[in-house]
Amino acid sequence: MCGIVGFAGKQGGEQAAPILLGGLKKLEYRGYDSAGIAVRDDVSGETRIVKAKGRLAMLVSKTDEGRAVPGFCGIGHTRWATHGEPSELNAHPHTSEDGNVIGVHNGIIENYQELKAKLMRHNYTFYSETDTEVAIKLIDYYYKKYLHTPVDAINHALVRIRGSYALAVMFKDYPGEIYAARKDSPMIIGVTQNGSKDDGTYLASDVPAILSHTREVYYLGELQLARLTADGATFYNLDGDEISIEPTTIEWEADAAEKGGFEHFMMKEIHEQPKAIRDTLNAYLKEGQINLASESGSAPLDLSSVRRIGVAACGSAWHAAMAGKYVIEKLARIPVDVDLASEFRYRDPILDEYSLIAVVSQSGETADTLAALRLAKERGIPTLAIVNVVGSTIAREADYVLYTYAGPEIAVATTKAYSAQLIILYLLAVQAAYEKGIINLDRYSALIQSMQQIPNAVERTLDNKERIQWFAAKYSSAQNVYFIGRGLDYAICLEGSLKMKEITYIHSEGYAAGELKHGTISLIEPGTLVVGVLTQEDLYEKTISNLVEVKSRGAYLMGLTTFGHYDLEDSASFVVYVPGLDPLFNASTAIIPLQLMAYYLSLARGLDVDKPRNLAKSVTVE
Ligand code: F6R
Repeated sequence: MCGIVGFAGKQGGEQAAPILLGGLKKLEYRGYDSAGIAVRDDVSGETRIVKAKGRLAMLVSKTDEGRAVPGFCGIGHTRWATHGEPSELNAHPHTSEDGNVIGVHNGIIENYQELKAKLMRHNYTFYSETDTEVAIKLIDYYYKKYLHTPVDAINHALVRIRGSYALAVMFKDYPGEIYAARKDSPMIIGVTQNGSKDDGTYLASDVPAILSHTREVYYLGELQLARLTADGATFYNLDGDEISIEPTTIEWEADAAEKGGFEHFMMKEIHEQPKAIRDTLNAYLKEGQINLASESGSAPLDLSSVRRIGVAACGSAWHAAMAGKYVIEKLARIPVDVDLASEFRYRDPILDEYSLIAVVSQSGETADTLAALRLAKERGIPTLAIVNVVGSTIAREADYVLYTYAGPEIAVATTKAYSAQLIILYLLAVQAAYEKGIINLDRYSALIQSMQQIPNAVERTLDNKERIQWFAAKYSSAQNVYFIGRGLDYAICLEGSLKMKEITYIHSEGYAAGELKHGTISLIEPGTLVVGVLTQEDLYEKTISNLVEVKSRGAYLMGLTTFGHYDLEDSASFVVYVPGLDPLFNASTAIIPLQLMAYYLSLARGLDVDKPRNLAKSVTVE
């Protein structure tokens, strides 16, 4: 979704505009439809705003790579339209009529109509359809009304705004300064004071934007404000009192957010899965035992007393949770209910039965997942977050945090974070089963050993990618694809199907194989591609029967199973084999060919693999 960058640099140091454009480039992956920057020219004292609809390259060329917008302090934004169509007028930064206040915003202001009406009564006029313009003019209104400092003006506005926001604002009367505030939308501040040319203070809605300049960052908390100058940052609460925030060092490698020789981030991230899995396992395996000490600093989770678990998540994270449900229920015999976070929050869930509500999220910022977490906390249920982005809102608000160690994920379609989420869920299942006395030490150790084989098994699966590439080229004009499987294989199908539809724009569905006959089978026509996933021994014959049923209605069958099941070739025209692990962990290998298939099909169809249309990496609005 939208991205924010800001830079307050030193006079004579690095110019702001190229830094802002460079930062926005790193945020392109989040999805956007227009972009803009505002830079204060220290000679004229004027702040110039330049915006462009479409790709960032338009803004880069319009500003002559930033050279046409001189100055050492500025803010930038990539917009993903919510209020008002993608256009130059609606793009950020937005400004008060006299240029007194200029700002950018991520999130949604729910009561913007009401605030707009109020401002109109005070003779404010509006040039755009955005809620952001309303926020900027509201700040301007309070600034003028009370002749307060920027911090007071912003605070006055914030208490009247309902919704979510990350705001970055510059005031004409305060050259060289940027003010930032946040609620439910991330904002980080980075500082460099190394004597290098790019010394200054950085602002970003997401780590990759500033990773090449600094790793020392401050995570702005809920309803906190920051004042950035070239020399550092000062933080305030809603009362305007100065507060202190501890800096954090980002551990990600500086080049982690680069393509590293791959054509697309998605392919790079698909290949990073063995490492993501290994790093996640290593973080929680100590001397042959699982140690799920929470990173939140709280006491370790006591799994022996957990009676029922609820999980809320969105998209692929929800699919990981679906797979986790099978594994946890089978191994630890703990009932697990998995909810779409967007449904969970509005169905007034009955939570008394739950010992734990877990949320799963790569970004740690997904609005619905965050709301589900907060609902569980309000009701007094212990919460666990399985999160990839360190310091994200969900990670900071949950009682327990288990991080996935996938590193930064840039491609919109998740791959390595999903794989790492599976690992955490397996670890939880195995540890809970052991703590509850359901499995003995031998089985416990065998399961751990099997998990340790996953990275190599994924590597071996990746080695076979040419076959998938060949198959994808053949099927690039497919119009419908159905993924069918039972049990854990059904959960794999859901994720395989999502990968397919989001980056190839081919209609696809993940279906429980046994459910086909209750409606969907009527969609099968001669040539329809049906992918059968069969990694579970006990369900193998059943799914074969379903495959044969669709084949006799003309479907073209692709089978996905573990090595050794060569009889699948009697039914399916194309079969992909993956190394078999303990069957409970087979989702980790089986998902790889499905990710690759979606990738190669997207490529064959000439699509933007990393930035599929209409999608955003981190969905911070409902
Ligand atoms: C699909 C995908 C999305 C996310 C979903 C949740 O490839 O990436 O479906 O899984 O938007 O995002 P997080 O995990 O950041 O909460």
